[in-house]
Amino acid sequence: MIKELYHYWTTPCSPAARKLGYLKELIAIEARARRIAPYWKSHQEKSRKVILQALDQCPRCDQAVILGGGLLFDIPLETLTKRFSEVVIVDIVLSKHLRTVKKRYPNVICLEHDITGTAEALADIETGKPLPKPSNRLPEILAKADFVASVNLLSQLPLIPCEWLIKKGIDGQLIDDWCSQIINAHLEQLNQLTGNVCLITDTEHHYLDRSGKCHKQIDMMNGLQLPAPDQQWQWSIAPCSEAGRNCEIVAAVSAWEKWHQID
Ligand SMILES: C[S@@+](CC[C@H](N)C(=O)[O-])C[C@H]1O[C@@H](n2cnc3c(N)ncnc32)[C@H](O)[C@@H]1O
Repeated sequence: MIKELYHYWTTPCSPAARKLGYLKELIAIEARARRIAPYWKSHQEKSRKVILQALDQCPRCDQAVILGGGLLFDIPLETLTKRFSEVVIVDIVLSKHLRTVKKRYPNVICLEHDITGTAEALADIETGKPLPKPSNRLPEILAKADFVASVNLLSQLPLIPCEWLIKKGIDGQLIDDWCSQIINAHLEQLNQLTGNVCLITDTEHHYLDRSGKCHKQIDMMNGLQLPAPDQQWQWSIAPCSEAGRNCEIVAAVSAWEKWHQID
């Protein structure tokens, strides 16, 4: 707890990201990842493996970009830094860990950037004001990347903004429609890229009791139908000890090694 508080007060981040709760969430993810490491291990290994397979299909190796780098648990950073001249890690909050890693690998660039482009406007939102339009473009310096991986990010993009809007008393249907716009905008960003694109995201959350029976299912894509993935697996994001009571939350994860090739 003291370590988390220390990180909270000493990690530089934009006022909007701090106000909306992105920094708090990243620090909470780090603590959760430590607490339930065995449950997350296989998901992280599978994510890294998909990225490595996707890399093998990449003809040029100048710039690689990781969207949603976070704590780099699911990123094969060593290989990326050896294979590419430049590796850009993008996140709305640059974790302490990421800043340390950057010192070890001179060709790593950390870019603090809000992929939805809405955080600043949301920080000052008031009931009755229009919701900010999610950005469907990535920063210009990433547009020509040879390889871009969006790693366990897509489903996360609407979460914090929507929680914030609920707290602000914004109408539920408006929030729901806006969530879908955020998801679509990120896919549009990926579709505009000229290099190879790898996408990994959880698409559903299943709430299971101790017998494994599913009692609740949440569609993390808000009704959006995605094409058939190259790989799928399950990720116990919150085992009973974490989720509390008798409930385990299991995410269904999908991965596309070459998102562009999909019609
Ligand atoms: C579930 S984590 C991804 C896991 C991460 N690859 C790792 O191994 O730690 C989601 C990441 O997306 C980032 N993120 C969430 N919303 C974002 C946004 N609007 N722009 C950029 N990054 C965002 C979070 O800060 C977090 O680091």
